[in-house]
Amino acid sequence: ERGGYPHFMLKEIHEQGGVCRSTLKGRISGGSVDLSGELSMDEHTMISFRAVHLIACGTSYYASLIAERIFERWTDLDVKVDIASEYRYRDSKITPDTLVVFVSQSGETADTLAAQRKARACGAYCLAVTNVQGSTLARCCDDVLLLKAGPEIGVAATKTFMGQITALYLLAMYIAKVRGTFPIERESELIDELLQIPYKIETVLEREHLIEELASKFAFSQNFLYLGRGISFPVALEGALKLKEISYIHAEAYAAGEMKHGPIALIDPNVPVVVVAPKDSLYEKTLSNIQEAKARHAPIIAVGFDGDERLASDADHVLCVPPTLEEFSPFVTVVPLQLFAYHVAKKRGCEIDKPRNLAKSVTVE
Ligand code: M6R
Repeated sequence: ERGGYPHFMLKEIHEQGGVCRSTLKGRISGGSVDLSGELSMDEHTMISFRAVHLIACGTSYYASLIAERIFERWTDLDVKVDIASEYRYRDSKITPDTLVVFVSQSGETADTLAAQRKARACGAYCLAVTNVQGSTLARCCDDVLLLKAGPEIGVAATKTFMGQITALYLLAMYIAKVRGTFPIERESELIDELLQIPYKIETVLEREHLIEELASKFAFSQNFLYLGRGISFPVALEGALKLKEISYIHAEAYAAGEMKHGPIALIDPNVPVVVVAPKDSLYEKTLSNIQEAKARHAPIIAVGFDGDERLASDADHVLCVPPTLEEFSPFVTVVPLQLFAYHVAKKRGCEIDKPRNLAKSVTVE
């Protein structure tokens, strides 16, 4: 049932092109996103929203941080993201004109369910973005947007993260379009590129042997620092979480610009720094953070676009991914980080599919 792969996690990583493709399927027609057939929220409801809150735990929270930036870019809504275990106890202003999106692979995470009860009591419109139709979360929300990822067995979430970001991009595009805030002059460029993303994910997967080689060089490091800016910051967080969960290596992720506010003190030649550096509007800033880390003799592992010679000369190692539009880089940059974590854990002889102390779904507080 592992389809010839040694672990479910690796099988699921390799399914991600397909997951993205299936999650897009039937949701784009005539060059435009259309979710009207499956969401019950009507145009009037979508126009009446003032704010959107994205609430989740773990990897689903990191997918939400990516979506936060996309909602900010394409819509005029006030966007807020929170961890469910915080949201359920704080005094956020949740009003009937707030759309609260609960992102949960399983739809059974206790804190996310409690946060949903709170939002419901405040009269907010609740939408579940989940992989499990019929889950508690799906049943309790006003609306459901499904990821089409298929069952995920590995405790470390990989393909469901891909499904989540795909679904969340579609949602942001759809709401933005209905509200008239979507950059319509870019619609065909954005949709065409989104449809190319599954192929680009598959191209990264074909380079697994290069990532495996790199993983063997760093498998016995004790600490890692992951950096990224803008939309690449949540990718850095997710890459570090994958490494922590399955290899038990201490990995910290920081917004690259925060480095000099503290974590730079950690850097020395024994702390590899993984930098997510796609060529986007923050690229130059990220390169200067690489310089700062290099000056302290940290080995630099960068994730960047094919053909980026500057990055190749500045970093010690580059994991290349096919270039894409600035908005879509997380789809491709996260994949080498998942594979890197997997191969590091494998070299260390860890229990990859069932890491210690972790459960697939956290149904208690
Ligand atoms: O089922 P959920 O998406 O609600 O689960 C949330 C987290 O428990 C989950 O993402 C966890 O962080 C994973 N182990 C990440 O790999």
